[in-house]
Amino acid sequence: MTEPLPPSRLPAGHVAGQPLTALAPMQDVTDLAFMRVVAHYGAPDYFFTEFLRVHAQSRPEKHILRSIDENTTGRPIFAQLIGEDLGHLARTAAELLKHPIAGIDLNLGCPAPKVYKKNVGGGLLRDPGKVAEILATLRAAVPGLFTVKMRIGFDDTARFAELLALINEHRVDLLSVHGRTVKEMYRSDVHYDFIAHAVARVRCPVLANGNVTSAARAAAIVGETRAAGVMIGRHAIRNPWIFRQCREQFAGAPPLRLTLADVRDYIARLYQATANVDFPERAHVNKMKKYLNFVGQSVDPTGAFLHDMRRTETEAELFAVCDRHLLADGADACEFSPEPYPGVIARPNCETPGAVADGCSLETITA
Ligand SMILES: Cc1cc2nc3c(=O)[nH]c(=O)nc-3n(C[C@H](O)[C@H](O)[C@H](O)COP(=O)(O)O)c2cc1C
Repeated sequence: MTEPLPPSRLPAGHVAGQPLTALAPMQDVTDLAFMRVVAHYGAPDYFFTEFLRVHAQSRPEKHILRSIDENTTGRPIFAQLIGEDLGHLARTAAELLKHPIAGIDLNLGCPAPKVYKKNVGGGLLRDPGKVAEILATLRAAVPGLFTVKMRIGFDDTARFAELLALINEHRVDLLSVHGRTVKEMYRSDVHYDFIAHAVARVRCPVLANGNVTSAARAAAIVGETRAAGVMIGRHAIRNPWIFRQCREQFAGAPPLRLTLADVRDYIARLYQATANVDFPERAHVNKMKKYLNFVGQSVDPTGAFLHDMRRTETEAELFAVCDRHLLADGADACEFSPEPYPGVIARPNCETPGAVADGCSLETITA
């Protein structure tokens, strides 16, 4: 593979002058298939890979490399690392620089106890000294763009200002801020005032992350925080048109309205994209249910689609439920709600006892 030239400035967004949009990194979600499906409905300005684990024995995971090497979305992709060993972080960054990435991103936010107990991801926010060493190492190892995704603290926000000073000191090129502490997991309100504080303090552009549920909310959050753009995770699983709708909203045009029939098309495309010869039908259907947990939050206010969808075991049963709820008489005129319906909660979710144990996985984070 020929070595791409590392870029030294952020790639331009789709539309000059508009706030940026990014698909948030999501383990077991933002793989090649999902990114291609999202791109079909309107790509964000930037993609981020799932995190690549870095330790003494690690080698970049093949399926994540594939999402970089075979990226046909037309948009740049940043490779995210999670780890704390300085030498192996530098080694992994050097390996990744041989692939067509836009830059290297460092995970300072994963709230899964089994992750933070190893002092990686969100666990590092307890130790600004170690964060400083990692930032210095990666800044020296990455000649192009070096970006960070962080939460606003571990137990509390007492060290946020100190952490932001390190972002400046080590010349980070882009900072994504999920406006919750590690201990707040996915539960609390998002503290957009802390994102606004980061925007005011750091020299690099900031992406606001956390509960950006719709194009209208994206515009409001950019207005409130003055962030350079938004990073969207779970609500892009629910609504992959959201990046296109953001561009429309930012341009002052009405965002595309979606019908339940459009959503039937999305589900079929996702099923096809995630098919794999080694994947038995039952496992494939189960994987689909994890995406559909989010989709169902905008299908009907009673949660009837979610109820029926969860009971399917075969492709035929799954699509029969989709047809019944999404293609019934008049469904092509029925709106797919731009916001999740209040009270329609995907299960299991991070409020379910025991579910927090695993943190970053579709099994547990579906609220
Ligand atoms: C299933 C899942 C997997 C995630 N995996 C990662 C990850 O690999 N790296 C990361 O920085 N954040 C990860 N996150 C956190 C998201 O990037 C994002 O910060 C969080 O979901 C809040 O944004 P949202 O409200 O738009 O979903 C994950 C979140 C979910 C739901």
